Amino acid sequence: SWAVSRQTVKEQVVYDDEQKGLEKQIIVYFSHVVAENTPKGLAAQKFAELVEQKTNGRVKVEVFANGSLYSDGEELDALLRGDVQMIAPSFSKVTELIPEWQVLDLPFLFRDDDHVRRVLTGEVGEELLRLLETKGIKGLAFWSNGFKQMMSMARPLIKPDDFRGLRFRIMPSEVIEKQFRLLGGEPVAVSFDHVYRALEQHKFDGQENTISNLYSKGFYKFQPYLTISNHGYLGYVVMVNESFWDHLPVDIQRNIMEAMREATEWNWQKAKEQNEKELAQLRRRQDVHVYWLTAQEKEEWEKKFSPLYEAYTRQFGSRWLDDIREPK
Ligand code: LMR
Repeated sequence: SWAVSRQTVKEQVVYDDEQKGLEKQIIVYFSHVVAENTPKGLAAQKFAELVEQKTNGRVKVEVFANGSLYSDGEELDALLRGDVQMIAPSFSKVTELIPEWQVLDLPFLFRDDDHVRRVLTGEVGEELLRLLETKGIKGLAFWSNGFKQMMSMARPLIKPDDFRGLRFRIMPSEVIEKQFRLLGGEPVAVSFDHVYRALEQHKFDGQENTISNLYSKGFYKFQPYLTISNHGYLGYVVMVNESFWDHLPVDIQRNIMEAMREATEWNWQKAKEQNEKELAQLRRRQDVHVYWLTAQEKEEWEKKFSPLYEAYTRQFGSRWLDDIREPK
């Protein structure tokens, strides 16, 4: 059988038609940083199964969860180098490569999941993918994890003042960094796979994340004050190295796209269900305190965040924001 090689993507996927009978299996490494039992982890597994079925085993997708192959900061580089074929980083983690993507990090930008979906499957989504292509990356789909909530170790985060002086773990994103500064907090970028250890060492006091991430990784054990704020969106773009993609036979590309479409539908449904189910489980715990931000409190946060919108518009114009508010 064909040994997995860590050579360039091109050599890995070249399919030699003349070698009939000597079937080569195309290996796709799919690396991600979250737990297996999450909307992304489960959708990646689902996608792998679908690809295997649809290609009759000609393509094998190997999923590496929990950052076991590459951590946050490394996976994009690894994809560009061709050391891994598929990743699904959060939108925030794309912003270093493509600053326009920052728009998706603006707090209180999206009304609900349907709004997000309409934006991503519409013209804005297309444009975001076009920008990726200029970097040699082909985006295959947008996946969801749902809305982010706030968590803290010491006290509930309800009024903007509650954030003052606390250290917050963030993903590397300028908008998220400014968001916490506007609340008087001190943001620290920490790679997702280091968050648990950093929490054990009390390197920060709070963070924002989705229910499924904080549940699957047990972050709530350290940060029991949970505010349901739905202020930001955690979505992913599933991507492949473009030259890898271009070297795949056309029928394989078609099978992969079909599998991706099915896995994507499944992911969006799953993300919703899983976050709801796990929130219900957290509410049952004595040691977790859940608070729902009221409409009035949300307004106070929004006032604090308005400079973010002004800064984004100054830098990139208002077109993106207009298109997102009224998706086409
Ligand atoms: C995070 O770093 O908190 C998330 O982006 C992790 C993930 O991929 O869901």
